Order: sequence, then C-alpha cells, then structure tokens
Amino acid sequence: MTSIQSVLVENRVFPPPAAASQGARIPSMEAYQALCREAEQDFEGFWARLAREQLNWTRPFTRTLDESNAPFYRWFDDGQLNASANCLDRHMGTEVESRTAIVFEADDGQVTRVTYRELLDRVARFANALKAQGIAKGDRVVIYMPMSVEGVVAMQACARIGATHSVVFGGFSAKALNERIIDAGAVAVVTANYQMRGGKEMPLKAIIDEAIAMGGCETVRSVLVYQRTPTECAMVEGRDRTFDQVLQGQGNDCPPVPVDAEHPLFILYTSGSTGKPKGVQHATGGYLLWARLTMEWTFDIRPEDVFWCTADIGWITGHTYVAYGPLAAGATQLVFEGVPTYPHAGRFWEMIERHQVSVFYTAPTAIRSLIKAAETDDKVHPRNWDLSSLRILGSVGEPINPEAWMWYWRNVGGERCPVVDTFWQTETGGHVITPLPGATPLVPGSCTLPLPGIMAAIVDETGKDLPHGAGGMLVIKRPWPSMIRTIWNDPERFKKSYFPEEMGGRVYLAGDGAVRSEDRGYFRITGRIDDVLNVSGHRLGTMEIESALVAKTDLVAEAAVVGRPDDVTGEAVCAFVVLKRPRPTGDEARQIANELRNWVAKEIGPIAKPRDIRFGENLPKTRSGKIMRRLLRSIAKGEAITQDTSTLENPAILDQLSQAN
Ligand code: PRX
Repeated sequence: MTSIQSVLVENRVFPPPAAASQGARIPSMEAYQALCREAEQDFEGFWARLAREQLNWTRPFTRTLDESNAPFYRWFDDGQLNASANCLDRHMGTEVESRTAIVFEADDGQVTRVTYRELLDRVARFANALKAQGIAKGDRVVIYMPMSVEGVVAMQACARIGATHSVVFGGFSAKALNERIIDAGAVAVVTANYQMRGGKEMPLKAIIDEAIAMGGCETVRSVLVYQRTPTECAMVEGRDRTFDQVLQGQGNDCPPVPVDAEHPLFILYTSGSTGKPKGVQHATGGYLLWARLTMEWTFDIRPEDVFWCTADIGWITGHTYVAYGPLAAGATQLVFEGVPTYPHAGRFWEMIERHQVSVFYTAPTAIRSLIKAAETDDKVHPRNWDLSSLRILGSVGEPINPEAWMWYWRNVGGERCPVVDTFWQTETGGHVITPLPGATPLVPGSCTLPLPGIMAAIVDETGKDLPHGAGGMLVIKRPWPSMIRTIWNDPERFKKSYFPEEMGGRVYLAGDGAVRSEDRGYFRITGRIDDVLNVSGHRLGTMEIESALVAKTDLVAEAAVVGRPDDVTGEAVCAFVVLKRPRPTGDEARQIANELRNWVAKEIGPIAKPRDIRFGENLPKTRSGKIMRRLLRSIAKGEAITQDTSTLENPAILDQLSQAN
C-alpha cells in the first residue's frame, strides 16, 4: 500500500539526460509535440508517411485507413509486403548484412552469434522445410519453443511463407496447448525435445504429445522437433520429424511470399475476463510498422547498440521486441535462454557487462525480485558489475512502483539512463503510452504520454472525458496501425470486449483504469478494471482459474478467485474453494490445497497456481446468489471487513474463509 500512496504524491521529475537527447530521433518535447500535431492535423497522411518510410512494400498501398466496417479497421489494405523480408532481406547489401543479429546466451552460459546474413539463410532453409511439409500461406502453425535462435527462426520462417504462427509460452500445460491448437486449427507444431531452465532439463515435446492425445487436434499433420539436448524423446512415426531431418537437402533460397497488409501475421492467445483465452489476431503491415517504429521512437535504437529484451517469445513482448522489432530495425540483440536467478541472482547484471548491453528492457517483477536478492546477498548487487554500457532502461508488463523505479534508475542505470515505463498490451501490438528517452521528463511510476498518433484518453462508463486528476477508464479514441484486428474465430467477442456500445462502438477500451496528473497530464495506470490478474507480468483471467478448479469434479463444488497485492509478483492468485466433502482443516486442508495447486498447473500452467487456497462451507453471496468478490479481495489482503455485510446471505462464512490453512 505504501507504494500506491507514494505514487499519489509523486513529485520527483527527472529531465531527459543530455546524452540521451543528443542525436535522438525525437530529441525534445517540441519534436514530440510536432509529431503529435502532424498526426492530429492529417491523421491518415501521418501514418501513410511513416508506413512508406519504415517498410518495404512489394505493392505500395494507396488506401491508408478503411473505417467502413468499424471496429474492424483496415490499414494499408491494398498494399502487399512480407514481414520476414522487412526484417532480413532488406538489410542485405547494406552494412547490416554482416552485423550480428542475435547473440544467444544459453542457460549454461554458452554464447553463440548469428549475423543477419546467417539468420536469413537459416530462416530461408527452415521456410523451405515448412513448405516441404505442405505448409502454405494461410495455414496456422503452433510454436512451443524455448528461448532460442531456432524459436525466432521458426516465427520468421512462418512469416516468410505467409503461414500464421501462434506461439504458446513454454510454461503452458498440455490442456492449454490442446485448446489453442484446436482453436487455431493448426496444421503443424514446432517444438523442442526439451528446454533448459535454471540447470534443469524440462520436457516440451512430451507435452505436445499429451496435448494432441487429448483429442480434437486432427488438423495437425506434422510435429517438427528441435533437439535442444541430447536426451531422446518419443517420436510418432509419420507425424514427427527432427529439425535435422526436415532441413536436410533444403537450400537457403526461399523467396518471401508477398501478403496483403491485413494478412494475419500471428495469433497470440491471452486471458480475458471470461473463461476461454482469446486469440488476438494481428495484421502484417500495421504490426510490423509499429515494431520498427517503436524501436526507433521508444528505444532510439542505434547501429552500435546491443539491445536486450528479457521477455519470452511466448508473450507479446517477445514477439514485438525479440522476434520482429529489433530485426526490422537492424539491431544487434541478446537472446537469453535461462532465468534471472541461475546460477545466481546477478546473472542479468553479469550478462549486461559481458555483452555490453546498451538498451535493457525487463519487467517490474524481475526488478523487484532482484532488489530482494541484492538486499539479502550483497554479492549479487548490480554494483558488482560494470554497467556503464547501458544508456536506456525499459520496463513493461505491470505498474512499476516508484521504489522499484528509483532502484532501477540508481543502481542499474547509474542515474544516467532514462527509464522508459512502456504501457501496452497484447492487443495494442506495441508501446502506446511511454516516455521517449531523449524528450520526456520522467516521473517514477508514470508511463507519461501517448506516442504521437495514439489518441488516448480517460473516460467514464459512457465515454465522456474526465478531467485530469480524476480516475477512469483508459481508452484509445482513434484506431492505430498495430491494433488487434479481431479475436480469431470470434468477431462478436472482439466487438463486445473492446468496443462497448455505450461508448459508441468505435472507441478501444483497454481494460485498465488510469488517471492523469493535474500538472503534466501524465498517465498513471492504476490496474485492470476487469477480472484479469497480473501475476509476475503474466496475464491470467480469474474465471479461467475458477473453471480449472471446478473442472476437478470429484473434489470441487465451487470456486472464486481474486488477486491480492504482492511485493514481488505484483499480484498473487487467491482461491476460495467449496469442496464436495466436509470443509477440511489442518494437514488435510494443506494436502488438498497442494493437490488443487498441482491440478491448476496441469490445467493451465504453473504460472496460474494459486498462492493461497482457503476452504469454506460456502462462498459469501448476496441473497440473489451473486458472489461478493469485493469481500473476498479484502479477506485475501487480510484486511478487516469494513464493508456492509447486511445483504450477505451467510455472514458467518467470512470467518471461515479468513482462516489460513
Ligand atoms: O494491465 C496492463 C498491464 O499489462 C496488461 C497487458 O498485459 P499483456 O497483454 O500480457 O501485455 C503485457 C506486455 C505488454 C495491461 O492491460 N501493463 C502492461 N504494461 C504496463 C502495465 N501496467 C502498468 N504499466 C505498464 N507499463
């Protein structure tokens, strides 16, 4: 709570360091405002100019924005291009060709380097291998891979032949995979035998086998397996092939397939407020424009930079700022297989020194856990490493509390590196509200101002603008090129989730609460306004976890899930459960809680495991049967109940639920 209080009174301001402004693409607030004005005065002209400057089009577009079927907006839709060509081929014959594209550091510390030329060759060969498997433009390919050059190659190879990829994070369970494979109608799966994390070998291919065996995956014709470790894994005759097998005999000449700008580049599943994850669909042209443009605007990326985004390719951050943005911008980037705490909690700082990282982009949850580690063990404090190569720091995924911001600024950035607190979502494709390192005065805990052309506002339920200082709902009033195009297989849900009728059906509702500061109009995100939790920067739906719990039909009668604030993970999952047997206590309660935790890990993935599970004979409900989540949130926080409980059918239940196991 102290952190929230201190945001409210936050008055520290850090002007952009002179070194960050010097030579920056947007070097001042005046330059930023000039771009904003250009966008306001000629919205379509602004985006058309940038799309022409930033991307190589095989067929130039003549229409910039088509709003005739809003909110299904279309951008640059008579143009054609290829995403992989814009990330790789465009650099051939320039000085970027021989530049290192990826420095890969494995879990065990082994380092390999790949130049842009080599990466193009590898992508082209893998694309040829995909074609040889009968995979073609428009097909969907599920990718379930560790952080690796091969993972990026698989994504780029799909883009090269116009196949739509759907990457599933390596921490998701067989059940979660099964649902995604079915929803996407995938014809192929690309995976690895195992992944290495924190010195441990963990299966991936076996989980794919389990997912497919659950049924409904008849569309899957082939499973391609990267052999990350020498350990054998089971292979299904006729369906499964190793990378070595499919790459054999494939040449490195594979012309990129031009696709329409609106062609779906990828589908990425994310949690919403109702049960089933949504397949967020992104379009090729607008998305790629954003990936490249924000590398320039937000990270002011330069040829001599070493860029490191620590996100996994299974999340949107790893899509935009590992697989596409850095490559489209011709940057050198570090890709890391492992975890920040292995073999010690100074691994990130050690790697920054070793690879001379200059732009570092990570999540508040990682920063907070490393602060904790440094406080308990001085040997892993960042001061033990030379971090002078850094020039820009970034934060993403959840609100960063001012204390963590200050620590990052001071101990990692040496009070020299702007901290860009980038607000965005799977649905926005890339940054939408963020400081610009050479222009924006920074305020800890604030994502500051929208990028040029992003018409962000704070409104009430009817869509009416609220004055600065008043908290409300964050919306974006005009479309932007990298916005979500639809929910795969569910256009109605797309309209309902993001474009509420009460606001006219054309305004994008982010799902976050926000407030603007009275002095500067800076945005501060106050958290989700729907039933979505943010645990360690991972998005989870409370309903999704509830459905997982009640799916344990032999044991669970009813479940309600809420979040409670946590110092390290941002939020923690708390589940209130009614069993189909008498309410357990003591050892029995602990044992059942564990069983349920493991069950949720199997249903969704370990990231969704409830931290706390409380048992009751019932849940607090109103007389009309509605679960009072407000009360559950207070109980989860350990707060005294001050709310009116007179409408509660069964007030005695509150005492039961307040007891920890
Ligand atoms: O609640 C916001 C939070 O993360 C949500 C989006 O999650 P996801 O789609 O998984 O994408 C995460 C990576 C972009 C948002 O609705 N969020 C993201 N960035 C910030 C943030 N909250 C506050 N400050 C941020 N910088």
